Amino acid sequence: MNADEHYMSRCLQLATLGAGTVAPNPMVGAVLVYNGTIIGEGYHQKFGEAHAEINCLASVKEEDRKFIKNSVLYISLEPCAHFGKTPPCVDSIISNNIPHVVIACRDRFEAVNGKGVQKLLSAGIKVTEQVLASQALQVNKRFFTFNEQKRPYVILKWAQSKDGYIAATNAAPAKISNEITDKLVHKWRSEEAAILVGTQTALVDNPSLTTRLWMGKNPVRIVIDLNLRLPAHLKLFDGRSKTILINLLKDDQKPNLQWVKIDLSKPVLTSLLEALKNQGLSSLLVEGGAKLLQSFIQLGLWDEARVITNEALQLHSGLRAPDLNNFRQFDEQKILSDKIQLFQNLSSIHHLGIF
Ligand SMILES: NC(=O)c1ccc[n+]([C@@H]2O[C@H](COP(=O)([O-])OP(=O)(O)OC[C@H]3O[C@@H](n4cnc5c(N)ncnc54)[C@H](OP(=O)(O)O)[C@@H]3O)[C@@H](O)[C@H]2O)c1
Repeated sequence: MNADEHYMSRCLQLATLGAGTVAPNPMVGAVLVYNGTIIGEGYHQKFGEAHAEINCLASVKEEDRKFIKNSVLYISLEPCAHFGKTPPCVDSIISNNIPHVVIACRDRFEAVNGKGVQKLLSAGIKVTEQVLASQALQVNKRFFTFNEQKRPYVILKWAQSKDGYIAATNAAPAKISNEITDKLVHKWRSEEAAILVGTQTALVDNPSLTTRLWMGKNPVRIVIDLNLRLPAHLKLFDGRSKTILINLLKDDQKPNLQWVKIDLSKPVLTSLLEALKNQGLSSLLVEGGAKLLQSFIQLGLWDEARVITNEALQLHSGLRAPDLNNFRQFDEQKILSDKIQLFQNLSSIHHLGIF
């Protein structure tokens, strides 16, 4: 790793601290380096609040401020050049007389794309691009998918027995993953804007779909209930966090409960993703059941899958887990007897340009 990559990797570390709290904005980190020493660090912490560059500049100690005009600013994404919820970051960079800016990748969001770089160059600032670009695109896969594919980034997740079942024959919810993996799953929940289950899972499992085992926010709960047959006593309707019912019958709203009507002119999942896009929800964790997961796979409407296999559990019969054998596994980890495999759908994520 050269020096630029070293500082950029710190930017990317900082950027991910905004997971779950900045969406649908991108996660961005920035560091200010004077003569081989980091004198400022910042990241975009919350949607609507200051961007990474501004937090980074604000973090510089009073006694170090004299070095700013001779420092290099590293940012994991091209700085904005437009007025959004906050003023343009390029203006702050220019007014602070920073002579050199290093960015990982351009912000392909229409209002920025190249304009940030152009404004810096016009002000006589040196700009270095494409440092750890593919890692930076990966960090902001949700943001780029939301803006380019006009739909949330879709993550499929399920737990299965060693012999490939997600539920036992008696249809009672089977405990598959261990307690540590459960915590990890709740961390995953805290990082996504929305979480979805099918009608049958809502009925049989009665899940809360909240982030109870990890700090952070609850995702918006989404359930497909086309004919509004789910009973009101389900935990999904307990008001603890927002739930959206995707249905064919009505549009309506109550505190923490929303009915969104779709029609059948398109596949249900296409309409569902459109509805979520319209609500500004930039990522979706799909937690089952089998029919719903399989529908996403059949339509190619998924980006990533996280499959937990309890290698110490055999169910012998039951509901078969979806099959991802033809897809690319890009990572694997073990938590006690749970194997966690991560898959990517290359045909849906190729627009990111990661590979
Ligand atoms: N191990 C795990 O990770 C895990 C996770 C979740 C669930 N589960 C288990 O999975 C079982 C439920 O799974 P399941 O496959 O029977 O049902 P499911 O996928 O939860 O729900 C399927 C139902 O959702 C509705 N739906 C509407 N549009 C759909 C579409 N485009 N694609 C799919 N579904 C659509 C349909 O209900 P209508 O027919 O009413 O329209 C369909 O019958 C339970 O036993 C649960 O315990 C396991």
